[in-house]
Amino acid sequence: MKFSAVRGSEQPKKVNSADITLQDIALLQMIRVAFEEQSLKAVRSLQELLGASGGIGEHTMDNPKLVDALNQMLAQEHACAIRYATHAAIIAGPYSETVSARLKEIGTDELLHAEKLRDRILALGGKPTMEVSAAGLKPAATLEAILDVNIAEEQAAIRGYIGVLEGLSMSNVILFQTIQEIIRDEQEHLEELDALKNPKT
Ligand SMILES: [Fe+2]
Ligand SMILES: [Fe+2]
Repeated sequence: MKFSAVRGSEQPKKVNSADITLQDIALLQMIRVAFEEQSLKAVRSLQELLGASGGIGEHTMDNPKLVDALNQMLAQEHACAIRYATHAAIIAGPYSETVSARLKEIGTDELLHAEKLRDRILALGGKPTMEVSAAGLKPAATLEAILDVNIAEEQAAIRGYIGVLEGLSMSNVILFQTIQEIIRDEQEHLEELDALKNPKT
């Protein structure tokens, strides 16, 4: 086989088996072995890299435990939605309209969190709960009490989701990002409630 035949602008020439020497075969085998070794090295490097960040598809929690943890957060989200809707309805006094509107919006975010959790639970082969966390149903009557209750509940939700995140492998990208997005929303809720409680002006 004449490798020089394909160089430059020359058209490759047809070769027949009689033109292939033992040397050519040995050369081709060396190229194949070198290529396979390089591929193997690349795969090993990739495995080491993934292993260092938690492995492929492995969670600290197994799927049933993960589903339980997500269902606990789902029951908490159900309670959050009910709590915000109730607080928004009963709030009275100065600034009540503004605060009520914001509480309703936060309540809608909590319903969206519940929806995202249901999707992820189903994707893990689990069954989404319809339970409502009794601990999250905290009545409050005054503006100050309502803000205090919800600030404490947002802090509890953030702690809960961080606990879930710690048991997750980053390689489950959709679930990992979903939990991150929810934590981000809860932190925004916390900041807004805090700003309503401690206005700068
Ligand atoms: Fe939430
Ligand atoms: Fe929230």
